[in-house]
Order: sequence, then C-alpha cells, then structure tokens
Amino acid sequence: MGTITFVEYDGTSHDVDLVEGASLMELATSNGIPGIDGDCGGEASCGTCHVIVDDAWIATTGTRSHVESQMVEMSPECAPNSRLGCQVKACPALDGLTVRLPEFQM
Ligand code: FES
Repeated sequence: MGTITFVEYDGTSHDVDLVEGASLMELATSNGIPGIDGDCGGEASCGTCHVIVDDAWIATTGTRSHVESQMVEMSPECAPNSRLGCQVKACPALDGLTVRLPEFQM
C-alpha cells in the first residue's frame, strides 16, 4: 500500500491509496478525482485521462509509447511529462507519486 497524489489545475490535492496493478486512470476514477474520465476504458484512444508527471518522478514512471504520444500530443496542454493515466500502472515504486491534471481534458 502507498499513496498517489493527484493535483487539480487549481491546486486542490487528492491523495488516493495505491493499488498495485491498477492504472492511474482507474485509481482516479474509482476515487472520484475530478477531470479524469477514462472514457475509452484504458485503450489509449480518448485522451480523457491526461496527467502530467512531476519532474522528480519521470524516471520512475518511464516515458510514453509512440501510440500514447500520438493521443496525448493532441491536447493543447501537452507537456514534456504528459502521460495518459491509463498507461501508467501503479506499483510499489510509485508510492508518493504526484501527478498534476491539465486545466481541460480532451
Ligand atoms: S482512458 Fe482513454 S486514453 Fe486513457
């Protein structure tokens, strides 16, 4: 068990329990985090799970795949550390991870 923190665009912070094997999108939607919809169910095809990984964590989360990049780069708020939350699986190494949410989701 551990914690992952989602920070809304306005700075509102939400800590959720880390569930190993669940994606960040699944953790966000199951905990009612505003702004994460996960409309495609985790198929990397809707872009409604956009998160921006804190700089300190990018080496641990890894970088996005080509398919993930194609989707997330459609967002006008795409940042170098942008990820699709559905493509980041929670694991013990991510205990303490902080991700920010963009102002608008696709
Ligand atoms: S849930 Fe659709 S792209 Fe992540």
